[in-house]
Amino acid sequence: MNLTERVQNLEYAIRDVVGHARQLEKKGKDVIYLNIGDPLLFDFETPEHIKEALIQAVKEGFNAYSPSEGIPELRDAICEKEKKVGDIDILPENVIVSNGVSEGIQMVLGALVENGDEVLVPGPAYPPYISYTEFFGGKAVQYKTSEENGWQPDLDDVRSKVNDSTRAIVIINPNNPCGALYDKNTVKAMVDLAGEHDIPLISDEIYDQIAYDAPVSTANVAKDVPVIGLNGFSKVYLMTGWRLGYVYFTGQDEEALEELREHVTKEARIRLSANTPVQKAAVEALRGPQNYISRMVKKLRERRDYSHRRLNEIDGISCAEPKGAFYFFPKVDGIGSKWRDDMAFVRDLLEQTGIVFVHGSGFGSAYGSGHFRGVFLPPIETLEKTFDRLDPFMASTGQ
Ligand SMILES: Cc1ncc(COP(=O)(O)O)c(C=O)c1O
Repeated sequence: MNLTERVQNLEYAIRDVVGHARQLEKKGKDVIYLNIGDPLLFDFETPEHIKEALIQAVKEGFNAYSPSEGIPELRDAICEKEKKVGDIDILPENVIVSNGVSEGIQMVLGALVENGDEVLVPGPAYPPYISYTEFFGGKAVQYKTSEENGWQPDLDDVRSKVNDSTRAIVIINPNNPCGALYDKNTVKAMVDLAGEHDIPLISDEIYDQIAYDAPVSTANVAKDVPVIGLNGFSKVYLMTGWRLGYVYFTGQDEEALEELREHVTKEARIRLSANTPVQKAAVEALRGPQNYISRMVKKLRERRDYSHRRLNEIDGISCAEPKGAFYFFPKVDGIGSKWRDDMAFVRDLLEQTGIVFVHGSGFGSAYGSGHFRGVFLPPIETLEKTFDRLDPFMASTGQ
């Protein structure tokens, strides 16, 4: 068989680390998985009213393919939600429902990237932005985000990397893997830069309501600069396994917007539709009770505070405070001396303690190496057990 290089080169560090952990678990090791950003693997549950809405949708017969762009009711509800949360005005025809933000990333980059094109993505970044850009023959160029400045984008670095081949600038806000939250001035500066060069911004806001300070919607700041917004139901609405997200388009240039929307719609058509009953449940997620969100954020804030404190108490580890999402991305001093690289660190830690983290270079080596990513989703007792193992592990290696 003649298999393609583009697939051979695909990587997803977050899941790639699991194989070794499972082997150790089979041999009897007590393994703590802190690699995947899925709240449902811990003590968070899909809210009852959303589950009920799904069951009802199935029973009432919403089981056929739906329009490729999504059911009208959901597109309307998404516009209402984006108005309420991000204070932006979107028309329902500028919303396309996807099977998760992951599919949205694939469709948007599929419409924008040709061989040799470049996409500016944060360094470090959520890996599919890199993988899909490369899958479509492009090059993902990472711009620096500076750890000492709460992982905010280094604007000079972004500017220096824009060129004639740049097709889009990606913002992930709040950010995975660093937990950064970009403030209004930073978002405005990124928008201005994109506007100056006539490049659209892709703004992933899947963690928009999981923030420990006030979050900013890029489209709200952008006004006339085209923004391709990506959002979904996995995290805030606790529907990871149900696979639903959406793409929206904003900006003043109606013609450009329509062209892009048509391209993405064509891609939506070839995969027929997003999951129909889940779309019905998503309407309930958006229009039904929202009070569980603040309870979830309160719980996560306590876990964030605890993890941040414990990590910084360990010699050889330093960690910027996450301001959004549910990840910590600490730096380990001994990587490069004590351990060959961050992958060796993560492997050694797993073998000795059973803790599964993701190596930082899995989010792009230029800015991610020397770090690891973990989730602070589990209850404090599990986090306590984690840091109670990590601390002596670091001490035993002379950190
Ligand atoms: C920034 C970011 N975008 C997208 C996704 C994937 O979202 P979905 O489950 O909607 O495909 C994740 C999941 O971790 C994420 O962190």
